[in-house]
Amino acid sequence: MTPLTRLTAIAFAAIASTAIASIAIASAQARDGALPRIATENGRHALMIDDAPFLMLGVQANNSSNYPAVLPQVWPMVERVHANTLEIPVAWEQIEPVEGQFDFSYLDALLPQARERGVRLVLLWFGTWKNTSPGYVPTWVKTDNQRFPRMRTKDGKAHYALSPHHRNTLEADKKAFVALMRYLKERDPQHSVIMVQPENEVGVYGQNRDHSPEANRLFAAPIPQALGQATGKRGTWTQAFGEGAEQAFNSWYTARYIDEIAAAGKAVKDLPMFTNAAVGDPFAPPGKSGGASGGPDWQVIDVWKAAAPHIDAVGPDLYGRDAKNYLKFLDHYDRPDNALIVPETGNAAEFARFLWPALGYNMIGWAPFGMDLTGYSNHPLGAAELDPATLDAFASKYRLLAPMARGWARLAYRHPTWGTAKGAPEEQQTRQFGAWRVSAKYGEWQFGSMDSPWLKASPPPTADQPVGGAAVIHIAPDQFLVAGSDVRISFAKAEESASATGLMLKVEEGTLADDGSFRFRRMWNGDQTDYGLNFTRQPVLLRVTMGTYRP
Ligand code: DGJ
Repeated sequence: MTPLTRLTAIAFAAIASTAIASIAIASAQARDGALPRIATENGRHALMIDDAPFLMLGVQANNSSNYPAVLPQVWPMVERVHANTLEIPVAWEQIEPVEGQFDFSYLDALLPQARERGVRLVLLWFGTWKNTSPGYVPTWVKTDNQRFPRMRTKDGKAHYALSPHHRNTLEADKKAFVALMRYLKERDPQHSVIMVQPENEVGVYGQNRDHSPEANRLFAAPIPQALGQATGKRGTWTQAFGEGAEQAFNSWYTARYIDEIAAAGKAVKDLPMFTNAAVGDPFAPPGKSGGASGGPDWQVIDVWKAAAPHIDAVGPDLYGRDAKNYLKFLDHYDRPDNALIVPETGNAAEFARFLWPALGYNMIGWAPFGMDLTGYSNHPLGAAELDPATLDAFASKYRLLAPMARGWARLAYRHPTWGTAKGAPEEQQTRQFGAWRVSAKYGEWQFGSMDSPWLKASPPPTADQPVGGAAVIHIAPDQFLVAGSDVRISFAKAEESASATGLMLKVEEGTLADDGSFRFRRMWNGDQTDYGLNFTRQPVLLRVTMGTYRP
């Protein structure tokens, strides 16, 4: 063989083996399905599962429900409320009770049981931080503070939280997390697990950062260059962030720590990863929000985005019952660079109505917390008791949305959306879409108007109840989809005109196919439209077509 033909043969062999390798990869992907991912276009987001938009109608189990013996108390709740996704913890102490020895028997039980029920999973990695504490790290980590140092207080004492400034802790957590992702890579080719949340409500309470000598040295130094580039800030932490300096500092180092863990996990199996925030006050001045310092609270989302490029989204855990605050948080976290996910919200009935504005803010997922039959209640954050009325508040909405979750997610990805709920400020009860204005009103019967001079009625039973809301997709210039409950929705021309009066040409009730096409059930007319569109306790989906006539 001449040198030339030998080179050609080698090149041919290389091309052939590359081709064979790509065929092998392609067929493995075809067999295993496309990886879940978060897609972004024109500032809007979609959680892509099997390559199509998916809406996570989730529930989160209680903290200690992550054992095979407890799963029988979890699944009936998922089914009862028609959730399509279960968020459930995987604890570091559970999978690596002895250093280097991994036990995945819990996942061996969880994954097949989820598949049998057609339920997707979001795994919550309870590692270095769980509600900021090291409660879920293995004993061999908890008790070895030489090797895995806790933060220091200003006067040099050990604080309860582990410090983000120590490589030993990071490496040990990363090793366990990577083992978990390897398990998923090998044992979950069908991607029953659609997302992973590395850590849980990270940061620290009681102080804003580690005060160890090493941390003090870093805090006195200029902010990292990458953070300066991303935020346009300069100088030391205090110069750059003022009152919020310690929070920004702890956020940067906590986010860097988690980013390294997420990146290592993604290198094994590239699932979407998000971090949840123990949030404070959505209107507070810098550094005063009161959420866990270091977590992705709304004031430091920019810091997190710069520090943690492998974290696809940061999301607020929403336990506040005030509608104004709730919507403000949705607004803070729905950004062109951040898909809105509400990893946890209260499971008291009044939280159920916030699903509507969450949909309006183009959320990819939402989950009431503490949803299983173990009998545990986190009241006053959530429900005192999961009685039938409480469960129905969530179940009625999921029952409508679950069968059309794909269609809704597909349309919401491409079109403007809006949502509201009872208690939101006046200006957030109405929205203009092109030539049309949509408005929400509460405390009306389905027939007539409370301010009618000729048909007097006492207020309906829901008048003083925290129920009601709606979500809207503007699917065409003169056409809308509206889903809601316990609310009156009206459509009108945004601007009065002498030559054209607006009217609802058609109001159709129905559902959505996976491709987003509308499936007609019946027409609404007469009493059902004469006084606006009156959504009752049982949510429905309407397609509203607007038009005009010459007066
Ligand atoms: C928020 C945490 O993330 C959850 O794990 C849980 O502890 C709730 N708080 C309170 O029940």
